Amino acid sequence: MTDDASEPGGKPESRRDFLYLTAGLFTGVGTALALWPFIDSMDPSADVLALSTTEVDLTPIEVGQAITVIWQKKPVFIRRRTAKEIKAAEQTPLADLPDPQPDSERVIKPEWLIVVGVCTHLGCIPLGQKPTDPRGDYGGWFCPCHGSHYDTSGRIRKGPAPKNLLVPPYEFLDDTTIKIG
Ligand code: FES
Repeated sequence: MTDDASEPGGKPESRRDFLYLTAGLFTGVGTALALWPFIDSMDPSADVLALSTTEVDLTPIEVGQAITVIWQKKPVFIRRRTAKEIKAAEQTPLADLPDPQPDSERVIKPEWLIVVGVCTHLGCIPLGQKPTDPRGDYGGWFCPCHGSHYDTSGRIRKGPAPKNLLVPPYEFLDDTTIKIG
């Protein structure tokens, strides 16, 4: 609500007020998303975590495709990587990475990359899930908010984001089913 609307005798609610409210809501969402890495480090109890898992059937996802699922109200990107994408991720020298981490520490099975789809700069959702999306200079994801480029391991390569896309806790329940959380 704007000052005008909250003051006695202020002008009636207008389209301008609505736009201010909308902007406020989006700011709130962005802040919540940006806080995620910090909240995660607070180590919630096991019973809380048990209530917040997401099971995903990977069967429909073809090589080269990606889907987005929601886990704990956050988007999680699941990409079935091509051989070329895996090779690029595995062969990148650690010295080239702002947040050095080998690909092998970010995946359980190289074909499946699973990351939280929240930019580590200010919490936007990067592009790269749809075939028509830009994927940035390194073939992963591109965050247009301020120009962060992530590679095929979800690692930050260029732009203001300080950290790699977060890998959520997950496990394979069988060959084609994962449980996130
Ligand atoms: Fe992604 Fe700023 S939020 S680059």
